[in-house]
Amino acid sequence: MNKLLYQFFTEDHHRVEGFLNKATAIPGQIDENYYHQFRVGLLKHIKMEEKILFPAAQKANNNEPIPLAAKLRLDHGALTALMVVPPTDDLIKVIRYVLEKHDLLEEEAGGMYDLCEGLTQHQTHEILEELNKATEVPVQAHNKADYVLDVAKRTLQRAGFDYDQILQQLKQK
Ligand SMILES: [Fe+2]
Ligand SMILES: [Fe+2]
Repeated sequence: MNKLLYQFFTEDHHRVEGFLNKATAIPGQIDENYYHQFRVGLLKHIKMEEKILFPAAQKANNNEPIPLAAKLRLDHGALTALMVVPPTDDLIKVIRYVLEKHDLLEEEAGGMYDLCEGLTQHQTHEILEELNKATEVPVQAHNKADYVLDVAKRTLQRAGFDYDQILQQLKQK
């Protein structure tokens, strides 16, 4: 089996993570430009999975949903909600935590990318072509209202994550 889709998406994970690393390179400071590029990159990545990769895999699977896709979509919803909250050190810790778990479910052996790659092995080049044509998603301005963090916390809960517990757990390390 070729691994072109796996490579495409894994490299994109690293590209997006690279922006977050640059945004937080100086402790106690968040570089707005790099953080903006991180948000743009992550939202486009999610769009490429939800609009191109996952539907192509489901179609190739006789239109049967791939079971893991439901959980990954919940994670995408949570990450998208987190992108609206003005960034703080705590917020970024939670984003990193969720992204790490999420990317592993996609990248690990037998994970989502392997499943998608296997199902769509005769359409790899068409899918890559579509991916290369994908456009960016308009990024919303940060919303400073308090309820925005509460909304993000609730979408995290739906995906099986607890914002405050994650932070506590990280502090104990
Ligand atoms: Fe994803
Ligand atoms: Fe991904």
